[in-house]
Amino acid sequence: MESIVSGHDPVLLEETLHWLDLRPGQVVVDCTLGRGGHAREMASRLGREGLLIGLDVDPRNLEFAQGRLKDVPCQVRLFHANFAELRDVLEQTGLKEVDAILADLGISTNQLFDARYGLSFAQPMPLDMRIDPRLRRSAADIVNSIREEALADVLYELAQERYSRRIARNIVEARRISPITTTERLADLVRRAYASRGGSHERIDPATRTFLALRMAVNEEIPNLRALLKEAPGFLGNGGRLAIISFQSTEDRLVKQAFRSAEQTGQAKILTPKPICPTEAETSANPRSRSARLRVMQKSGRS
Ligand SMILES: C[S@@+](CC[C@H](N)C(=O)[O-])C[C@H]1O[C@@H](n2cnc3c(N)ncnc32)[C@H](O)[C@@H]1O
Repeated sequence: MESIVSGHDPVLLEETLHWLDLRPGQVVVDCTLGRGGHAREMASRLGREGLLIGLDVDPRNLEFAQGRLKDVPCQVRLFHANFAELRDVLEQTGLKEVDAILADLGISTNQLFDARYGLSFAQPMPLDMRIDPRLRRSAADIVNSIREEALADVLYELAQERYSRRIARNIVEARRISPITTTERLADLVRRAYASRGGSHERIDPATRTFLALRMAVNEEIPNLRALLKEAPGFLGNGGRLAIISFQSTEDRLVKQAFRSAEQTGQAKILTPKPICPTEAETSANPRSRSARLRVMQKSGRS
């Protein structure tokens, strides 16, 4: 398993490589370099004339990936950038078009378990959740400041949390006593909201959805994805491919809608009418891959 080396197993790796169909000499953008798992494999297919452009909002992952890409055959250019800033990045490279763009959304496993990111309720950590150090507002800032209804809306809209109102009320009552500053205390407040409603009948921890919603809010994940979906097709040359791996339904729906409207306007062809899901072998080796969905479109113009 690759995670022993990198702290993260790249998901749907074979499937992504199959659908991107990379050739020597091509230019590829990895919008979410992470630990470089997808990037290394893509780079190995590009040959000496190819170029891999890599972005990540997390400077630590960027540095790690840089180390893992030292011996790949193609040229490599890396940027500390958000994929919503793809236009600026490509302007810096002087390129108007590329052959493939990949975005593997969300966070990498090492980020989840590293206390410096403050993302996990599996161990006590300072409540933070910022992946990009340029961001000003942490999860603690949000839970300790926004109005109760707005907090409930965040939980409901971003993670479909059905007890959003009860959880928001618990948080607001608790923060009157003292600010909520640890993942442990926040998770406990959510679990108590569930307990007051008769408990949870699911396999996952009741805190899971609240933590997902807050991470998405802190890192502005939906606005960033919308920006990427709007811009990326315009940077593909004819026949170029855009592959997006998402991990939850709100994101997958946005990807599906964007690809559909690109197809309806004749801009692109959808190559995966149904999303590609991990095999049983992958989900048993890497349970975190279970919710992954890959969708791929091709810019019209090449067979
Ligand atoms: C699921 S991991 C990618 C893993 C990678 N494919 C690999 O094989 O190692 C997602 C990565 O994207 C980064 N990221 C998340 N949102 C981003 C954004 N809007 N722009 C650029 N990078 C982002 C995270 O910091 C994380 O390193």
